[in-house]
Parts: sequence; structure tokens; C-alpha cells
Amino acid sequence: MKAVLIDKVTPAQDAVMSEVQIPAVRPGWILVKVMGFGLNHSEQILRLSEINAPYIKKPVVPGIECVGIVEDPSDSGLRKGQKVISLMGGMGRSFNGSYAEYALLPETHVFPVETEMSWAELAAVPETYFTAWGSLFECLDLKPEDTFLIRGATCALGYASIQIAKALGCRVIATTHKESKFDLLKEADEVLLDTGDLAETLKTKGITKALELVGPKTVKDTMLGIQRGGIVCSTGILGNVYVLNGFDPIKDIPNGVYLTGFFSNYPTQEVITEIMDFLNVHHLSPCHGAEYSFDNIRQALMDMDGHKVNGKIVVIKEEV
Ligand SMILES: NC(=O)c1ccc[n+]([C@@H]2O[C@H](COP(=O)([O-])OP(=O)(O)OC[C@H]3O[C@@H](n4cnc5c(N)ncnc54)[C@H](OP(=O)(O)O)[C@@H]3O)[C@@H](O)[C@H]2O)c1
Repeated sequence: MKAVLIDKVTPAQDAVMSEVQIPAVRPGWILVKVMGFGLNHSEQILRLSEINAPYIKKPVVPGIECVGIVEDPSDSGLRKGQKVISLMGGMGRSFNGSYAEYALLPETHVFPVETEMSWAELAAVPETYFTAWGSLFECLDLKPEDTFLIRGATCALGYASIQIAKALGCRVIATTHKESKFDLLKEADEVLLDTGDLAETLKTKGITKALELVGPKTVKDTMLGIQRGGIVCSTGILGNVYVLNGFDPIKDIPNGVYLTGFFSNYPTQEVITEIMDFLNVHHLSPCHGAEYSFDNIRQALMDMDGHKVNGKIVVIKEEV
């Protein structure tokens, strides 16, 4: 089969397709014919630096998510031909991921779905919608009456979060650090320019829940701007600051404000089904920014590294 394999720092232009063996099935693992996958910021981090970390299998096929068809269910109880989505659990890091024609995936992370969505639409769902869903509902307990801030909204997760929160009935305030991108956020009720120092402005907006996608770089500022009783969920790391050094919980978290974080490593069938039902009931088409064919994956990665696409990049088997 064709697959992208990397074993060292790999800028997009150096990502090439290799011919490798289709993985052999074993108990507890399902062979999936990959029909599509979304690209992720974390895969870019893997290619450009994390590949050197000792916990990364080398060489590795990147790709933390996919959609496809069960080719061999092994002992899982699934059927050959069943439509599935899969994400995380070490995929594309500790075992080979989705940048391939077939992927051997742990049955704990393969979820059957029943849907009429195209492969391109479905490919936009697993990682982005699971992360948005977990952040909004498991962590933020988002309700229709909330005024909801999304900080760093011009990313796949931001667009999906706006879509879900608007369908729920929230008032949504989105930020971008580029004035030129205001139009991309027009589904939000209000768009703010993120100067990095927004707390005073945010205090006037009555924000009850906040999704931090810029992350540790701005999370203290967001906590200062939210109402008492409000919750901030730090999910993204777009600001390229990964940890809060010198974090002082007594002084850095304002009294009566709650801080949480979401990690997408533990998807469940129950949540995947809830997401698919929500999209269906609200007649939502999963947001995606651009589609590429599998043979054109190098271009997709180059466009990702070059910030050429707004929103989720999906790679699908059919020619586009
Ligand atoms: N916690 C988890 O389990 C989890 C799961 C999935 C994703 N994430 C994280 O969530 C974030 C969003 O992921 P994604 O896949 O949706 O990203 P993505 O679609 O690849 O978004 C990348 C885009 O974010 C934009 N961006 C917005 N604000 C930015 C800022 N302050 N600094 C730099 N870039 C900014 C950039 O475009 P412009 O600069 O042109 O606006 C860039 O093109 C990432 O940090 C990702 O690692 C976390």
C-alpha cells in the first residue's frame, strides 16, 4: 500500500509516499481501509519537532484520525464493510496512523457510524468535532443561555465550536489576531481583535464560558476577563506556548473563576454517536476548509504549513 512514513524532522515538501506492506491483523486490532482523514496542528508539530521525542515510534506513519471502511474486523465484532471513524489513543505516534491506504487500529478507538455524509464531510468530524464537543459540554457545560468566548477562533476547532454553540443557541464572541480574518468569523455574534491584552474588553461582555485555543499564552488574560462563576477551558496551543511556567493558582485564577482543560485522547462510542446525532438533528454540514486527494497529500501538508487554508484540511481517496 501507499503511505507517508517519517523518521526525522520533515518539512511538508519532503513528505513523500512510500510503498509499504499492508499491516497484518492481530487480536484487538482492526484493519481499516482509509477513505479520508483530516490534517491536524499536532501532526505538524510531530513532523517539525516531536518526531525526535523518544516515545515516538520510528519510522511512523503520521495521522491521528481517519474515516473509512472495516477491511478486516479481526475479533472485534464489527462487520467487514462497516463505516467507521477513528482517532487518537497513540495513533500516528506510538503506532502507525492514517496517512496510508490502510491503517491497523486498536478496537477501543474504532467507532462505527451510520451517516449519509460524503467522505470529505465525515473526514472533518473525528478529531475536530470530538475535541469541540468535549471542550464545550464535558468541560464547559455549555448551555443556550451562555455568552461564549472562543479565543483564537480562526482554526478548524474554532469554526466547529462556533457552529455547535450557535446551533445550541449561545451568544458567541470570537477573537482573531488578524483583522483581515474578521469575515471568516461572521457566524459569531461579535468578533474581537486579539491584541494579547483583552481582559478589560472582555469584562464588559458578560462572558460566562470561554474556550482558549491560543492556550497558555493568553489563558490568564482570559480568566481575568470572564465573569465570576465562569469557566475557562484551555484546549488549544496556537500561541506556541505549551505550559504555564510559574503558574500561581492563588493569584492567577481570579476568585470564583474555574479553569479546566480538554485532552482528546479518550474518545468513546457514546460521545461519537451524540456528535453525529447533533449534526444530523441540526442539519449541520461539518465545516472544512479545503479538500485534497490522497495522491496530493504533499501539497495539502505544504498548504497547511504555509497557512494557506482557513479551516480543516481534509484528504480523501477520491480525486477532487
Ligand atoms: N487538547 C486537545 O486534545 C486538542 C485536540 C485538537 C486540537 N488541539 C489544539 O487546538 C488548536 C486548534 O487546532 P486545529 O486543528 O483546529 O488548528 P488548525 O485548523 O490547524 O489551525 C491553525 C490556524 O490557527 C490560526 N490561529 C488562530 N489564532 C492563532 C494564534 N493566536 N497564533 C497562531 N495561529 C493562530 C492560524 O491562522 P491565522 O494565524 O492566519 O489566524 C493557523 O492557520 C491547536 O493548537 C491544536 O493543537 C488540541
